[in-house]
Amino acid sequence: MDTLSFDRKELRDLLALFADQGLGSPDVCAVAPGRVNVIGEHIDYNGGLVLPAAIDRWTCVALKAREDGMVNLRSSHGEVEPVSFSVEDLAKSEKRCWSNYVKGVLAGLKRKGFAFPGFDAVVLSTVPVGGGLSSSAALEAAFSKAVLELVGESMEPLELARLCQKAEHDYADVPCGLMDQAAVILCEDSKLLLLDCQDDSYRYADFDDPDWGLMIINSCVSHELSDGGYARRRDVCHQAAAELEVGTLREVPLAELDAVLAKDFMDEEKRRYVRHVVTEIDRTLRAVDALAARDYALTGQLLNESHASLRDDYRVSCPELDFISKTAQALEGVAGCRMTGGGFGGSAIALVRRDQADMVAETVADAYRERFGIEAGIFETRPAGGARSWRC
Ligand code: GLA
Repeated sequence: MDTLSFDRKELRDLLALFADQGLGSPDVCAVAPGRVNVIGEHIDYNGGLVLPAAIDRWTCVALKAREDGMVNLRSSHGEVEPVSFSVEDLAKSEKRCWSNYVKGVLAGLKRKGFAFPGFDAVVLSTVPVGGGLSSSAALEAAFSKAVLELVGESMEPLELARLCQKAEHDYADVPCGLMDQAAVILCEDSKLLLLDCQDDSYRYADFDDPDWGLMIINSCVSHELSDGGYARRRDVCHQAAAELEVGTLREVPLAELDAVLAKDFMDEEKRRYVRHVVTEIDRTLRAVDALAARDYALTGQLLNESHASLRDDYRVSCPELDFISKTAQALEGVAGCRMTGGGFGGSAIALVRRDQADMVAETVADAYRERFGIEAGIFETRPAGGARSWRC
C-alpha cells in the first residue's frame, strides 16, 4: 500500500515532524483509527454482540530502524515526554506511561517469535485521548502494524487484535474485551462491524445512508478504566455466569431473564448487571435489523434505552454523559443518543440527520457549556477503514 491511499494532513504533518527531528524519511508508516461503539456496551467480555465502527480520526506512526537496539519514541503531543528503551528490555514501566502500550505490543510480537531491530518512531494522533474512543487500541494497532511491516511480516487480523488486547491487559491493567482492538483493525469504510464475541466471528453491516450520520460528543471528562470499576463489573458478570452454570451471560435468553433474576444468589448489584447485559444483547440484535431496514426511529429508541440501562443498571455513566444524552435525545434531527465505550466519562454517540447536524452540535455544546462550564468535543464521523501500514 502506498501513501496515496492515505493522503491526509495527519500523515503529511507526521512526515514533516519526522524530518524536523533530524530523522530524514521513515522506513515504514502505519495508521490506525479510533472507534465508536454504536450499541452493545459492556457486552464483549460477556460473549455477546457488539456493533462498533472505526472513526475518521487517526493515530499515525512513522518508524525507522536503528542498529543499536534502542527504541526511541516521540509524540507530536506537546505534554508527552520522549521515551527510550532497549528492545531487550520490554518490562512494563511502573509509572503510567504511553510507552507501556508500545512495550506491550513489542513483547507480544516477540512472544510470537518475530525478531525486530530497534527504531526511532514518531507518533501523531487526532484520536482524542481519554475520550472513550480507543486511542490506546489505535496506538497498539498502529505500532504492531508498523513493526510487522518493518520486518516484512504480517499477522491474521484477529490474532493481531488479541495480541493488542493482551498488551492492554498486561501493560495498562485494563482487563478489556476484544471489541476495541478488533474494531480498529477490522473495520471497513462505510460499514459497522458486527462482532460476535462468543466465537469472535464477524460480519459487516452497511452504514452509508447519505441522510444520516454518527455524531460524537466528547464530554471531555476523562475516564479511568484501570481504577477498578470496569474490572469489578467484569468479575461480577463472570461470577453470575458461573453461578448460572453457563459459559457467559450471552447464553441467558431474554425470555428467562425474570426467572434468572429471581434466583437467591442474585444480590442487587448482580441483578442490575445481568439485566443490563441480557437486555443490551437483545437491543443490539434489534438495532442491527433496524439499521438494515433504515428504521432510524427504532434504532434511536434502542440507543436511548441502552443509555438508560448503562446509567441505571450498569452504572457506568456520569452526570455529564447523562446531560449530553438527555439534551441530544430531545432535539429534532436526533434519532437517539447514548454514552459509548467503557464509560465513567468519555463520549456519547448520536444518530443524527445530516441536515440538522450543525444545529444539534451547537445546541448541545451551548447547553453543556452553560451547565458544566466545559467545551464538549463534537464532530460528525463516517465509518472509516481499519489500520494499515506501508513501506515508505
Ligand atoms: C472498553 C473496553 C471494551 C469494552 C468497552 C465497553 O472500551 O476496552 O473491551 O468492554 O469498554 O463496551
